[in-house]
Amino acid sequence: MHLYASELSVVDTHEITEILENEFKGAYPETILPTGEIREIELVAKPDMVAIVPPYNTSVWAYNGTIPGPVIRIKLGDTLKLTLKNELSQPTTIHWHGVRVPNAMDGVPGVTQPPIQPGDSFTYQFTPKDAGTFWFHPHINAAEQIERGLHGVLVVEDPDEPSYSQDLVWVLDDWLFTNGGEIYSRFVTKHDLSHDGRWGNLLTVNGKYQPTFKVKAGERIRIRMINVANGRVFMPFFEQLYPLVIAVDGMLAKAPFALKNFSIAPGNRVDLDIIIPKVAAGKTFAVHDAFTRNNIDLAFIQVTSAEPITTPSFNSPQAKHFPLWSNAIKIPVGHEFILNAKRGGVHGISWMIDNKVWPEGKVYELQSGEFTRLRISNKSSRLHPMHLHGQFFKVIAKNGMKVEADFWQDTVLIGPKESIDIGLVPMDKGVWAHHCHILEHAESGMMSTIIVKE
Ligand code: C2O
Ligand code: CU
Repeated sequence: MHLYASELSVVDTHEITEILENEFKGAYPETILPTGEIREIELVAKPDMVAIVPPYNTSVWAYNGTIPGPVIRIKLGDTLKLTLKNELSQPTTIHWHGVRVPNAMDGVPGVTQPPIQPGDSFTYQFTPKDAGTFWFHPHINAAEQIERGLHGVLVVEDPDEPSYSQDLVWVLDDWLFTNGGEIYSRFVTKHDLSHDGRWGNLLTVNGKYQPTFKVKAGERIRIRMINVANGRVFMPFFEQLYPLVIAVDGMLAKAPFALKNFSIAPGNRVDLDIIIPKVAAGKTFAVHDAFTRNNIDLAFIQVTSAEPITTPSFNSPQAKHFPLWSNAIKIPVGHEFILNAKRGGVHGISWMIDNKVWPEGKVYELQSGEFTRLRISNKSSRLHPMHLHGQFFKVIAKNGMKVEADFWQDTVLIGPKESIDIGLVPMDKGVWAHHCHILEHAESGMMSTIIVKE
């Protein structure tokens, strides 16, 4: 049962909103004081050849010649100053997925910056406000540019968090390859659009097919997983290991929880805390994907040393302050976004938000500092991982039923005919994109913007 505005007086609503906003205070910072440390990085986006499935050399588009692109690690408070040189034959931009950047650094062409033309450069400079696992990718012709290999990882380290024996990044990807080991070169097809985007035939971790990660018995490892696939959802299952989720979409959870049937949709990140048991050298743990019924192996974790090390003992990092928002369900829905498709448009099928194909559509305004409840209703029978730039939100209801999520998200997977309510206190001002992270859906129109006002 959900409450409608009429069941609650304006006074009540106002009072509850105030409680929710107070609860929110301190969940994550409004500003960051830069330490003055500036990390300068040069990135070149250009066509290249990379061996993803040997013996084939695959033509890709890559940042600095690697698949996946570089993993940039900085410390909380550091300023990133990254210059992108576009050596592609088409315009591009970089969007910093999940990072609360100044609006002008958000990389959305036509919204926050003009596209970077072939031969041109652009410098992105900002100081991330949050520690965590983030990623970056083009925001123009993304269904092709990301699929061809343009994506990288930004890890913002918090020196206050405990150190693990190993801190690993696992970039999960899904490629559609031809028999000759090339990337299938028709993008945003009618097939992709009438399904959950482009699903491929080769799953990789860090650009490799079923890689093996070497560990020592007793080690405690942190794995930062990122789904960079165009459409595929992953549900990693660690055979005989018991990973704890400590962060979702970069932000530490209220408390660590067991990784079980956890969907990592395109755009999502999950940080895991795993203790390698004291087993004999040579023991190999498989990690498979359980989202589809095929249980495809993704990677292996192999114990190499016979001498177990002493397991680092510390409490898993967790959010310093986390609002429960048990009352959020009482606040009326501010706006309901409707997700649906229609025939027609450049690609034959157009995905829409509120019956509008991007860049049409009304801009929805939010007041900064004000608790807002939004509903996203999927009227279709496909999946839609909806991503909101520049903000974190919490799921507060599913199909009108209260949910008490223990973590923030910037991308939420909405199932067929499902409706999800999110709560947020927008803080970062500007015009922010709101779109489906199934890149084909977004490309055909499933994008809009919201404005966070002063
Ligand atoms: Cu990961 Cu608007 O994007
Ligand atoms: Cu979608």
